[in-house]
Amino acid sequence: MRERKNVYELPAGDTTLEWYSKAVVEMKSRPTTDPTSWNYQGAMHGFQANLPIWQGAAPLPSESEQRSYWNRCQHGSWYFLPWHRMYLAYFEQIVAQTIVDLGGPADWSLPFWNYSDTTNPDARTIPPAFTDPANSTNGLWISERNSDTIPANYVTLGALGVFPYTGDGITSELGFGGPRTAFSHSGRTHGRLEHLPHDMVHVAIGGAMGDPRTAALDPIFWLHHANIDRLWQVWLNQGNRANPGIAAWLNFGFNFHDKDGNVQMLTCIEVEDTTNLLSGYEYQGVPSSVPETGMLADIEPPNEMPLEVVAASNVAQPLSSKKTRLGLGLQPPRNKRMKFMAAEEFSPVPESTFLHFENITGTGVPPAYDVYLNVPDDDGGKEAHYAGSLAFFGVEEASTPSDHHSGSGQHYALDVSELMSQLRTLPNWKEEQLDVHLEPNSPPAEDASVVVGRISLYSA
Ligand code: C2O
Repeated sequence: MRERKNVYELPAGDTTLEWYSKAVVEMKSRPTTDPTSWNYQGAMHGFQANLPIWQGAAPLPSESEQRSYWNRCQHGSWYFLPWHRMYLAYFEQIVAQTIVDLGGPADWSLPFWNYSDTTNPDARTIPPAFTDPANSTNGLWISERNSDTIPANYVTLGALGVFPYTGDGITSELGFGGPRTAFSHSGRTHGRLEHLPHDMVHVAIGGAMGDPRTAALDPIFWLHHANIDRLWQVWLNQGNRANPGIAAWLNFGFNFHDKDGNVQMLTCIEVEDTTNLLSGYEYQGVPSSVPETGMLADIEPPNEMPLEVVAASNVAQPLSSKKTRLGLGLQPPRNKRMKFMAAEEFSPVPESTFLHFENITGTGVPPAYDVYLNVPDDDGGKEAHYAGSLAFFGVEEASTPSDHHSGSGQHYALDVSELMSQLRTLPNWKEEQLDVHLEPNSPPAEDASVVVGRISLYSA
């Protein structure tokens, strides 16, 4: 059994990262046609021949091999978590074998990067071994990164408080693990954990990590995903939570290559228990049993009221490189009591309100955008109006029609329930108008653009 350890708690003299670096250098020296090479492993997640980082990768495997094994990552899907778990397990096996072949220890395991650890002042910074020395002798360094530090807002763990694994976020709560889909390489709606912290961390680091077609070429990708995989188990351990118990999820399978380059298939049910996956692994500090689905039969979903749209902008909105501001006209939900009334009259029953950004299309790798509601004209006390952030991870692919999707773009939802109830208590609250501000977290690159098809507010 392997133990995947916290990268910031490796004991002095530990050689985990040193061996990881050596293995990366070795894997980079293998031809792209070798399934155990760095390039092949990265291309399984995503590949696009004309992107600069992929120049020099040729010779490539045949077109048909590429179609079968490349561009497979599952996003905007309830397969997001199991697919990435499988991907990591075989990657870890390949790295571990490479280390043994190089004369290293037999028990290497992939560490995880817990950027959300508020007890560690360095937690949100990429571990130093990945940035220093900044040259190609260091297998863990890559020049294609925009930032080494993730903003605190981008690593919060509200997702762990979500009960259902799946949900579409429109007629129901957006689930922890993503909406029910078929095979989905760049799905529309990202689940709660996938959005935050997963997508936010990708886009905050930017460069290779900012785009699914290049992300897995950055060695930090794998520690980021070990953490996301760990958070899946942390979520389950809180109780009253379960993975989908139906065949469409449990029996769905994906192909990978093992350490000898042989194709192997894994299904979701086979990876629910990490202690039985390949040689088995656990995360430091995280018990790993999988709860019985049967225990959950009596538990009510927290909110069964269907969500209704109460405001919408129906004009596509290109996001500016500075500030974008637009007003949403609010209307009371049909067939229901007035929702937006003065605070004293407001029902004490907590109300779910989601701000949706629909049909987001774009080009290049846009930065993250921070969203605020009803910011005062002088920007004073803006933080109290923060609604959340949008990552647009994979937006260019999601905007391009292909075999797997229509190209209608991405869909993000922010849970603004708490913010809305606070805003209602402010003296300048107007029940008929909500102002939405969007600001890029860093200046957009010239070739990056985003258009939000529709912004809407749903409430139950
Ligand atoms: Cu498939 Cu973090 O991406």
